[in-house]
Amino acid sequence: MTKIAVLGASGQIAKLAENLFLEDKNNELILFLRHPNKLDKKDIDDQRERIVVGDASKLDELAPAIKGADIVYANLAGSNIEDQAKTVVKAMDEDGIKRLIWISSLGVYDEVPGKFGEWNKNILGSYLTTYRAAADQITASDLDYTIIRPAWLTNKDEVDYEITEGATTPFKGTEVSRLSVASYVNEIVKDQSKDSRGNVGLNKPNTDGDKPAWY
Ligand SMILES: NC(=O)c1ccc[n+]([C@@H]2O[C@H](COP(=O)([O-])OP(=O)(O)OC[C@H]3O[C@@H](n4cnc5c(N)ncnc54)[C@H](OP(=O)(O)O)[C@@H]3O)[C@@H](O)[C@H]2O)c1
Repeated sequence: MTKIAVLGASGQIAKLAENLFLEDKNNELILFLRHPNKLDKKDIDDQRERIVVGDASKLDELAPAIKGADIVYANLAGSNIEDQAKTVVKAMDEDGIKRLIWISSLGVYDEVPGKFGEWNKNILGSYLTTYRAAADQITASDLDYTIIRPAWLTNKDEVDYEITEGATTPFKGTEVSRLSVASYVNEIVKDQSKDSRGNVGLNKPNTDGDKPAWY
């Protein structure tokens, strides 16, 4: 059995990932979230899924929730993401959990080249500084983390991605589907040594441009 704690379990990528996790009968899920009504799930498999309501920036809510998990997948957001990152690291340390998947964003290392990089910086502004500060909390920890930096997200029903390894490697492409990100997360759950201590950009191949196609 692999017990996966999903933080921000009603997030858009998280919900897609949960469906993939459940395809493997050996996976059990802790669905940690602030608003269970947003999960919009028809059936919860009580044997394999447990909903825990809580806030990822609050240690007293997070630490007991993830107890016993083998892997934590954090699909969080918000202007206090750095506090959430600190709390996730603390809670994992307290519980002796080592493996973390952390969703971040393209651009946090100023790694997006050219005109698209400039556009991205202008549009995202302080979001990038905040998300960078959160990523720094994760990389400063001794956890076995994988930081994922997706390109601009789409809801296309496709799994089509490539990765760029390392924070300083120039980012490729402009977009990637949420389903691709979920699928990559599931690959890590299946093989937890994959991209451990890795910092990975995720994009759809051949989508280079000055902006995402829909802008
Ligand atoms: N949009 C893009 O093009 C793009 C590109 C790259 C990266 N990203 C980032 O990728 C991440 C995942 O994307 P997504 O589409 O899955 O995002 P999403 O649907 O907004 O999911 C984020 C989740 O985080 C939860 N959350 C926020 N603060 C929390 C807290 N303190 N405690 C517990 N849960 C909390 C939210 O729950 P509530 O419902 O309670 O708020 C929400 O369910 C986001 O951080 C996003 O900014 C986005």
